Amino acid sequence: MGYTMHSDLKLAVPIEYPEEQRPSHVQKLERPQPLVKASRLAFLRFGKPDLDQCRNFWSDFGLRVVESTPMRLCMGTADGSPVAIVATKSAKPRFLGAAFEVDADVDWQDLLRRTAGRALGSDELPGGGSGIECIDPEGFAVWLIAPQARVDVKPVREAVPANGNTFHHANRINATVRTPIEPATVGRLGHYVLQTPRFAEMAQWYMSHLGLIPSDVQYLPDGSPLLAFFRLDKGGTPVDHHTVVIASGLKADYEHSAYEVADLDALGQGQQVMRAAGHEHFWGIGRHVLGSQLFDYWSDHDKHQFEHYTDGDVFTADRPTHYVPFAPGSIWAWGDDAPREIFPQKSLGMLWRAIQLVRRRVYSLDKLKAMAAATDQPARPWL
Ligand SMILES: [Fe+2]
Repeated sequence: MGYTMHSDLKLAVPIEYPEEQRPSHVQKLERPQPLVKASRLAFLRFGKPDLDQCRNFWSDFGLRVVESTPMRLCMGTADGSPVAIVATKSAKPRFLGAAFEVDADVDWQDLLRRTAGRALGSDELPGGGSGIECIDPEGFAVWLIAPQARVDVKPVREAVPANGNTFHHANRINATVRTPIEPATVGRLGHYVLQTPRFAEMAQWYMSHLGLIPSDVQYLPDGSPLLAFFRLDKGGTPVDHHTVVIASGLKADYEHSAYEVADLDALGQGQQVMRAAGHEHFWGIGRHVLGSQLFDYWSDHDKHQFEHYTDGDVFTADRPTHYVPFAPGSIWAWGDDAPREIFPQKSLGMLWRAIQLVRRRVYSLDKLKAMAAATDQPARPWL
């Protein structure tokens, strides 16, 4: 169900409906009037017990060390933004939240009042600056900050496909491809994904506090939304297909974050470096469906996942929201099967959590059954 079948091989691709052509039972994800529009995902914040391990993992992953003290580690990308990840020393690993830049001419006092936020001290912000902290319905912090000063960094190399040979065009003549075996230099922070049992509340909160646009909404057979990919609203300026993803789950949690690299060869050579250094590979290389990225996922020592990606879709604000029936096969177009860990694992703990969510009326039993049925579908029935 929810697939277009190809010939008698039963190969299938998911169906995608532009908003105005969605089936009548599919609920529209209404957009609230935003308090402010975010212009850039600046950095992510984690609490981490072992900052040395983090520094090793993220260095091999292709990030650069910006600041390293016993209590705080800041890692940066190559796009000139001053910082992409901030890890502070903590007893347990946990995701703390994200920082987004907003336009400098925003009325900060008014925004502080309307968001019921807290003014950030300049010592809290890596590199200084100003901003406010808001807390989302699950307790994750979202920092709205003034644009940060750019820094000079080593550029990312040109992509191999820029002069690649294809069936139709021989662009590279008397020249070879010799990409270096080196960490996949991370150009920039792209997106992050949160799970939540309160999808509707979280989706509304993130749209209203960041001005996000839903790019794709995936729904259950009853037409209710299960997860949504959100992009920034920068009018006619193209932006990533998704910067924030909100996904229904049994607990509030960080799912993964993603970092753009030069090209497919950077994914592959970066994978060799990560494997050689003994890091835990999670999933890839493959191509996503919604967002279209070529991807490769890694787990750090705290089981936090980090994705290298390249060749993602970019949309302007006028591209309509699409609605897509949820199925595991709609997550990726090709590549190895996704590890089962990307979906909730059946266990006594999961059952207990599910019972609590039904008791607290966060989920109905029917909704939980529909979610379980959707994630239990085989992703690639033809394999
Ligand atoms: Fe991703």
